[in-house]
Amino acid sequence: MVNTRTPLIAGNWKLNLDHLQAIAFVQKLAWSLSDAKHDPSTVEVAVFPPFTDIRSVQTLVAADKLPIAYGAQDVSEHESGAYTGEISAAFLRALECGYVVVGHSERRTLHNETDEQIAGKVAAAVAQNVVPVICVGETSDDLEKHGPSAVPVAQLKVALSKISSTADIVVAYEPVWAIGSGQAATPEQAENVAAALREVIRETLGDDVAQKTRILYGGSVKANNIAGFMREPNVDGALVGGASLDLNEFSSIVRYQKHVGV
Ligand code: PGA
Repeated sequence: MVNTRTPLIAGNWKLNLDHLQAIAFVQKLAWSLSDAKHDPSTVEVAVFPPFTDIRSVQTLVAADKLPIAYGAQDVSEHESGAYTGEISAAFLRALECGYVVVGHSERRTLHNETDEQIAGKVAAAVAQNVVPVICVGETSDDLEKHGPSAVPVAQLKVALSKISSTADIVVAYEPVWAIGSGQAATPEQAENVAAALREVIRETLGDDVAQKTRILYGGSVKANNIAGFMREPNVDGALVGGASLDLNEFSSIVRYQKHVGV
């Protein structure tokens, strides 16, 4: 079957850049991509700023019609109610967020998010037409004990358990040992797990969803290693942390097709 998935390069800013810095960054990113004649129909680019930046990013993107998507780094599993500090999927939709990261390993570890909660967040996002970028990945301990794909496969099965086959989702395979470590997985490792994850999507949501869902790799992605991942048939983009804060590096990752033969 022909792969018609548009690659997605997504920048996860984590706890960096306030709303003024976000405006400057997105504006410069747009200029840099436009100077380089980047065609947004060939590679989609998205940024994931902190909640407090999103309104500013929305205003800039809408006013200048920038070909840059954006989303939040987390969402509440609840629709509304007495949940101090939470942000609902409806609020993200109201700010025209296209995406939301769900189940990032930092949320799983530092905030003890469970697979069930993550399934709730996925369902909450889908219900508001905000596409969840569902993060899964194994620690180095898991890797030693269970091999590369067992944990991400188990996490994804639960994460998909509350949505139907009409859902629009993105999956990000992020080995925890590769995040922020400078030690990325090999393209082959990423491909093997991505293929296993696509199989989970097929079993859970059917062939069509499996065929159209983009599976990203994340963990120490840089301009000098992105092309290797993008050559793999089941890797449809990247979730970029540290390197997404460096304008030249991020814009070079987005333009991977230009600077390296794929
Ligand atoms: P990194 O982070 O690119 O800095 O390794 C990836 C992520 O956490 O999404």
